[in-house]
Amino acid sequence: MYSYTLNVRNIIIMEKLDDLWKKGSDFLGSKFSIMGGAMSWVSERNLVSAISNVGGFGVIACGAMSPELLKKEIIGTQILTSNPFGVNLIVMHPQLDALVEVCIKTDVSHVVLAGGLPKKSIIQTIKNAGIKVLCFAPSLSLAKRLVKMEVDALIIEGMEAGGHIGPVSTSVLAQEILPYFHNEQIPIFVAGGIGRGEMIVSYLEMGASGCQIGTLFVSTNESIAHKNFKEIFIKSTARDAVPSVQISSK
Ligand SMILES: Cc1cc2nc3c(=O)[nH]c(=O)nc-3n(C[C@H](O)[C@H](O)[C@H](O)COP(=O)(O)O)c2cc1C
Repeated sequence: MYSYTLNVRNIIIMEKLDDLWKKGSDFLGSKFSIMGGAMSWVSERNLVSAISNVGGFGVIACGAMSPELLKKEIIGTQILTSNPFGVNLIVMHPQLDALVEVCIKTDVSHVVLAGGLPKKSIIQTIKNAGIKVLCFAPSLSLAKRLVKMEVDALIIEGMEAGGHIGPVSTSVLAQEILPYFHNEQIPIFVAGGIGRGEMIVSYLEMGASGCQIGTLFVSTNESIAHKNFKEIFIKSTARDAVPSVQISSK
């Protein structure tokens, strides 16, 4: 009886969830509107395909990769999954045009432009090839500008996120940006400091179309990160996270 009640409850919860993130999962083409945030040197074929294979949406981190290396990573990922995944490109990469060309030639479905405000021309080149473009919106004014530049989706990422962070917390950004675009069709994903399902649901209920998670995926079995790196994440508490200007110990 208990498990029957639980199953019915789970079905009701899943139906509600499907409804809440429909815009996001339709946009991504994935079962769950949960993106595996690109993490340089961590989000490669193994982790990305593992996320996509279970119904999430993995994203390859191009980072400082050359176009040749990116091509290999995309093809390697396509061998490991037939589900949709994306590619994250850093806009200040000196070979950005060549990286975009690789994405077009390898039939990538979604490109995430990160690390600054992209030029409208690069957004148009990607869109003209039939690829969906997502961009990070670190403030409401930039979100409005990116929508005018016709990006297909936005990611709101706050200072709780791993990687390069902005000055505003995710929850404050979300409360400022999500209601503003409430009546618009554009899907908005929230990233930064998300570690539990309840948190995802709260952003969905606030109007997000899905969420992006990075840190939580670092310590998974499928992640190629070094075991010492994974252990630090597992052992740490909230107080251990410190923003740093350090890029590497060298
Ligand atoms: C180790 C690490 C590397 C990252 N590298 C990138 C990157 O190359 N490009 C990018 O857009 N975001 C990068 N991020 C941010 C993630 O894509 C994601 O948005 C972020 O981790 C979400 O916050 P969370 O870590 O609290 O889940 C990185 C995050 C981490 C933890």
